[in-house]
Amino acid sequence: MTTLTYTGAADIEVHSYLAANDERALADDVLDGLTRPFKELPPKHFYDARGAQLFDEICDLPEYYPTRTERAILRERADEIVELTGAAEIVELGSGTAAKTRILLDAMQNAGTLRRYVPLDVTESMILETAAALVEEYPGLLVHGIVGDFERHLQHLPEPLGPRLIVFLGGTIGNFTPGSRRRFLRGLAKAMGPADHLLLGTDLVKDPAVLEAAYDDSRGVTAEFNRNVLHVVNRELRADFDVDAFDHVAFFDREREWIEMRLRATSRQHVRIEALGIDVVFEPREELRTEISAKFTRERLAGDLAAAGLELEHVFTDENDLFALSLSQPAG
Ligand SMILES: C[S@@+](CC[C@H](N)C(=O)[O-])C[C@H]1O[C@@H](n2cnc3c(N)ncnc32)[C@H](O)[C@@H]1O
Repeated sequence: MTTLTYTGAADIEVHSYLAANDERALADDVLDGLTRPFKELPPKHFYDARGAQLFDEICDLPEYYPTRTERAILRERADEIVELTGAAEIVELGSGTAAKTRILLDAMQNAGTLRRYVPLDVTESMILETAAALVEEYPGLLVHGIVGDFERHLQHLPEPLGPRLIVFLGGTIGNFTPGSRRRFLRGLAKAMGPADHLLLGTDLVKDPAVLEAAYDDSRGVTAEFNRNVLHVVNRELRADFDVDAFDHVAFFDREREWIEMRLRATSRQHVRIEALGIDVVFEPREELRTEISAKFTRERLAGDLAAAGLELEHVFTDENDLFALSLSQPAG
């Protein structure tokens, strides 16, 4: 189903491909994920309005180095990226509040190439607010927002207005397991024209203590963000999770080189999920996996991009090799 949201502004179009709160997709994921022997939910369900706000708070935490590091790399390289790509528009996947994207939009505006911004995110309120703010900040900018799922709705990207820079920041690519990551990148490569580029933010493998602190901050904001998914299930699917009966767990899996976030039941929990007509039991200390966040080496990055039919052209990192932004193009 598609809905066109009238925003009252001539330079903004927002198309929604999610039914109200997409509770169908949530219902399917909850039914599938909570009836498995090892319980799991995909991370996209963290992001209702409260989850998006908590993620913003995480980005400002001293332990959460990815946001400020990626921002610093963008500041240093934005002009070069715009020159290399000649981009007239940015398509941003998982756009959130587009805070860092403004660095690229500024560089495009200065270069005189900026025409349109196409944000795609599951959180409608964020798309609407960001669109309204950006047309104020960049007079003449067109915004074509897509409320949708980047795993399912890439076919709804509008026809390009010129060379396109697809931007996927924040290390969100790390939330895919390796197989689905390559499948996703292949789909993305197919949606790209020969003049388009992909700017991909990836968090790098590093000291596990630094990684684990980034996902288990001393103020407990990440813990609250993690538990928020239970609030979402309670509200959307009429469930009765006792949210405080779950502990936040975050650890670096050294073999797979990814961070896992889980919620661990502190005692036996019996949960009724009314909208699905099911009951779910958690044994004491049983865990629910809520996110993986894969960390990259250059080899892993190059291998994934090559397998997707993308050619890695540049890797930009910070002086401590904490985070990487890579620029690639469809091969051949
Ligand atoms: C880790 S945050 C990154 C936000 C921002 N790009 C940044 O770099 O700070 C992930 C963002 O992706 C969105 N998101 C997560 N899964 C998604 C999906 N399957 N489809 C579309 N958006 C998704 C979330 O709503 C959130 O805004």
